[in-house]
Amino acid sequence: MIAYLYFQNPLKMKANRLLPVLFLLCVLVACESEKKVNKDVIDEIKKLSEVKKVNEADMISHAMKWGDEISTEAQQALISTLQKAIAEQGIGGAVEFCHTEALPITHEVGQKHNVTIKRVSLKNRNPSNSPSDVEKNLLEAYAYNVENGIENKPNIQKIDQGETLLFTKAIAIPNGMCLNCHGEPGAEIAEETRNKIKTLYPEDQATGFKVGDLRGMWSISLPKSEVIKNM
Ligand code: HEC
Repeated sequence: MIAYLYFQNPLKMKANRLLPVLFLLCVLVACESEKKVNKDVIDEIKKLSEVKKVNEADMISHAMKWGDEISTEAQQALISTLQKAIAEQGIGGAVEFCHTEALPITHEVGQKHNVTIKRVSLKNRNPSNSPSDVEKNLLEAYAYNVENGIENKPNIQKIDQGETLLFTKAIAIPNGMCLNCHGEPGAEIAEETRNKIKTLYPEDQATGFKVGDLRGMWSISLPKSEVIKNM
């Protein structure tokens, strides 16, 4: 499905863009309506928001800010350790490092904030980074924007019957460094690196990228109760 959104500013959308957006929203709502509402959680959210005197709009704007901070923190943790691994062990060694450390590093940042952090991609290397249906729709919308020169903005969706705010943010390939492991096999990806990747990730799809391409996105599930507590 090709879905596109003008994130953050729906009022500026042209009429012909509205239809797919409505379709996307229907899909998102349809996916979610099957889950059961957890009454205790809803009650806790209600109570917390009364105590803190916050409304839905306050929560969403705080979630946007908080999600952005958390994704930046996780990104920095990954990049600094990746750079260290490359300096110490070369690109091939760093592949092994990513294999064992990338998921634990993001998981740790998530635990620190009581949220769930993922990096997901339509062309993933680690199958654990495959998107859910909601995430897939968002990735397709981000990819549409990149292809059409529309700037990608972070986005918030309500999931789990409104118990959770899903913050997402596009991850583009910022520079040639990434292409050592995500570029063209045989050209940018050296033979040794390619073999390491093949051994560790037999189902790898994360090659053939160019600078500026959409590589994936941050997907951070922020329980509404945690968002309110953090306000
Ligand atoms: C040393 C090789 C290497 C370099 C350099 C590298 N990556 Fe990766 N990347 C990997 C490996 C290995 C994984 C799989 C990690 C795992 O098992 O969770 C991965 C996974 C990812 C994922 C998660 C989705 C997926 O495909 O599983 C994203 C997003 C990503 N890389 C983006 C980048 C970006 C952006 C850069 C440049 C800033 C970069 N990578 C540089 C090796 C590398």
